[in-house]
Amino acid sequence: MIGVGNVVELRGVTKKFPVRSAPFRKAEPFTAVSDATFSLPRGKTVAVVGESGSGKSTTARMVLKLEDPTRGQVVFDGVDLATLDRRELFEFRRRVQPVFQNPYGSLDARYTVGRSIAEPLQLHRIGTRATQDARVNELLDQVALPTALASRLPHELSGGQRQRVAIARALALSPELVVLDEAVSALDVIVQAQILELLAELQAELGLSYLFISHDLAVVRMISHEVHVMQHGRIVESGTPDTIFDQPQQEYTRALLAAIPGSEIAR
Ligand SMILES: Nc1ncnc2c1ncn2[C@@H]1O[C@H](COP(=O)(O)OP(=O)(O)O)[C@@H](O)[C@H]1O
Ligand SMILES: [Mg+2]
Repeated sequence: MIGVGNVVELRGVTKKFPVRSAPFRKAEPFTAVSDATFSLPRGKTVAVVGESGSGKSTTARMVLKLEDPTRGQVVFDGVDLATLDRRELFEFRRRVQPVFQNPYGSLDARYTVGRSIAEPLQLHRIGTRATQDARVNELLDQVALPTALASRLPHELSGGQRQRVAIARALALSPELVVLDEAVSALDVIVQAQILELLAELQAELGLSYLFISHDLAVVRMISHEVHVMQHGRIVESGTPDTIFDQPQQEYTRALLAAIPGSEIAR
């Protein structure tokens, strides 16, 4: 049984990137994320939403420890990620998994679906060839894909099927936290809804926690328990999806709501 409490906490997290400039000129670094503080309760979905360039992916990458904060701490299961040694980092990489927008990023075009899903098990030396194959079938089943797809290549699949494979691969090592960065953004609305439903089912079944990153408030409303609205690297508004939708406090949030297709009819 996994412990209660927060799976992740961001404490005053800031990320600055150096800015290239003309020789001998001093350029101020660019602040992509500024003083972000929020927590993700175990088994819940916390969304970060905002326009393109607002710092969402940089936030996701710091939670995945693909980037380190310039200031502040990312705390996973009570431990500051900055303090992890090699062995702990390897274990962290099992417990936290990403799903990105473009499954071609995580699925090698030359690998069969089965090989892509089994790869994390091989990297972490979990099981034998036979138990890995059985696990691949189990994972395909969990994401509601026929096990016959194991021998196919990514280009033979639809966009929705590919994203299901990316989710199956992310689940292979039984992670606690899945970081989804625009994971349904490339899909049409019908397929989006199917994937969101699958994610909700998997959460209920496996007790997963999700950090759900999207520019699309309509999608965020369907999946999240709590929403943080990001603008220019800052969290400018936080709340439940219903309060964000029904009582947006910021002009910026109202603009994001107005950008939802059909919003002028629905509201
Ligand atoms: N490695 C990097 N080096 C320099 N600037 C970066 C880097 N990564 C992101 N940025 C900048 O930080 C800002 C936020 O980017 P990002 O986190 O990708 O936003 P979002 O995911 O919300 O679109 C953007 O202006 C982007 O150009
Ligand atoms: Mg992004």
